Amino acid sequence: MAVDMELEMKLRPPEFPQAPYPPKVITLANGKKMVVREVTRADVPKLLKAVHPTLFIERDYYNVVGARVYAELLAWQYFRVRNEYVIIGQVDGIVVGIVNGRMYSPKVGMSLHTLAIDRGLRIGAHLFAAKMEHHIEYLNQDEVLIVAESPIGFRRWMIEYGLEPTDIPHELGGAPSYKLTRELYFKSKPRLVVGDRPVPQELMDVATRDIIVGNEAMIREKIAGLKGR
Ligand SMILES: CC(C)(COP(=O)(O)OP(=O)(O)OC[C@H]1O[C@@H](n2cnc3c(N)ncnc32)[C@H](O)[C@@H]1OP(=O)(O)O)[C@@H](O)C(=O)NCCC(=O)NCCS
Repeated sequence: MAVDMELEMKLRPPEFPQAPYPPKVITLANGKKMVVREVTRADVPKLLKAVHPTLFIERDYYNVVGARVYAELLAWQYFRVRNEYVIIGQVDGIVVGIVNGRMYSPKVGMSLHTLAIDRGLRIGAHLFAAKMEHHIEYLNQDEVLIVAESPIGFRRWMIEYGLEPTDIPHELGGAPSYKLTRELYFKSKPRLVVGDRPVPQELMDVATRDIIVGNEAMIREKIAGLKGR
């Protein structure tokens, strides 16, 4: 696609400097190692394939969240959103979860989404924690604004962290935001934020060689085929 760069620069939002998120590794409850790392715009086409099956799964609001993540990834790829970042979890190279957010201002973070593609292992909880770690410890922000779009999300974020209610409309649909402050983050950190650094080179090599997208039917089965619910 030929791009008129002069016009393009008017369309792209200006960005604040943004520190990188250093990768870490988390041992999941099944003993598998999940590499948690920040990705780049070049990785978006692969991630879209991983999110796509969720667009058609009503269970637990995967369709709503999946469609929004899909749009946010595209907006990021084409420079139509300010200061977004995307962090993924990978097990044996396979993407198992995606989180994103953005710097609303240098000191205020806007949490966007958390999507767990494999379930029952607190992958979403670990990735949400990584996102809070990024905002507070690496982007050096004072607070993060958060909303939940599903009951599981509400349980995982508002209740597990004891987030503070505010009357600030969140940019995801205008619901009143909840707030994670620096103080609340550091209070919750020993309980909720896990992982080791540096990531052993052999694990990093597997994760960066390729982002592997699970088979579409397998993703649907993992998300929608939960037993006993
Ligand atoms: C919210 C979310 C990120 C949480 O991810 P997670 O921490 O990895 O948690 P899971 O989705 O695996 O599990 C949530 C619940 O589902 C149930 N569950 C998960 N796997 C299960 C299985 N194999 N069999 C039966 N129940 C299962 C459990 O009740 C679990 O709750 P518990 O661990 O507190 O007992 C994830 O559910 C998700 O992506 N949901 C859709 C999108 C969404 O709502 N995102 C958040 C927007 S605010």
